[in-house]
Amino acid sequence: MEKERDLILIVDDHPTNIDLLVSTLTNDYRLGVSINGPRALDYVSRQKPDIILLDIMMPGMNGFEVCSRLKADPETRDIPIIFITAVDDASRKIKGFELGAVDYITKPFLAEEVRERVRTHLALKSMREQLADRNVNLELMVREKTIELEKMLEATISTITLMAETRDPYTSGHQQRVADLACAIAKHMGLPKNIMRTVELAGILHDIGKIRVPTSVMNRPGRLLEAEQELLKIHPEVGYKLLKRIPFTMPVADIVFQHHERMDGSGYPCGLKGDQILLEARIIAVADVTEAQSSYRPYRPALGIEVALEEISKNSGKFYDPQVVEACLTLFREGLFSFGEDSRIRDPGHIQ
Ligand SMILES: [Fe+2]
Ligand SMILES: [Fe+2]
Repeated sequence: MEKERDLILIVDDHPTNIDLLVSTLTNDYRLGVSINGPRALDYVSRQKPDIILLDIMMPGMNGFEVCSRLKADPETRDIPIIFITAVDDASRKIKGFELGAVDYITKPFLAEEVRERVRTHLALKSMREQLADRNVNLELMVREKTIELEKMLEATISTITLMAETRDPYTSGHQQRVADLACAIAKHMGLPKNIMRTVELAGILHDIGKIRVPTSVMNRPGRLLEAEQELLKIHPEVGYKLLKRIPFTMPVADIVFQHHERMDGSGYPCGLKGDQILLEARIIAVADVTEAQSSYRPYRPALGIEVALEEISKNSGKFYDPQVVEACLTLFREGLFSFGEDSRIRDPGHIQ
């Protein structure tokens, strides 16, 4: 389909000027004519010209004011305006450019000059529009690719956790449940979505370092020997080393490294205290111990959620961040969260 010819609005109070401009442009363009400022604004409100030729000196509302109003309106600010002036006055030209005009035509007109300037500015306008369209397309492509990468990352993480849990069936589902609770805690604390997503990811992966602990130790019934416990303690560091290679945009590896640190410095591997421990790691710590205590382990039966809540409550401020503990207790006490079959938070706002 052939493109409709461009529409030019001529705004001038002198019939002679209008006639001259019309005869110069009528063969190539569709034309609109307004004989004063208010009529020009009215015209533009009804149909959008591709370019405006605007006289400066007009009775009532002058060209500068018409230009200012058009530039103030997001609907019309992109229409190129070429001022028409009788005198070659430098200060007036500067004011026009400051108001957003793209060019000047000085009277008396040379038909060829008018045609050239109009043609140039229409070409520029069309290029700007094409560029803007291309940018929109690029943004859409980037968004699609980001979603694709995110999905690939999630699939990779699921595979890694499945592999780890195959070795260690007793903690099967533990990481997912910790992730769900950590995410719910972050949400209840009013933390931004990116933090919720971070603790969710770190939760899913927090015990990944256990793949270096022999299965005989992992799955042995009864209390672990001291040497075995020491062996188990390497898992945050192993997890850190495995995960630091993945270019996450969030500090997932550091959070995994710190998830057994405790507020009073009694944790491992570094004995960090209070604020030295990342907030996300403090959240995982509470979610981890709550889930672990309430579930079955090879060396003991499930203790139940009440025992788990008692543990975090008793050690709030000592081992665990009090604000995180508070959020966790509220979630369970007010029935906002439970370790159900898939232990999803009972809230549509949960990050899927
Ligand atoms: Fe752990
Ligand atoms: Fe854990």
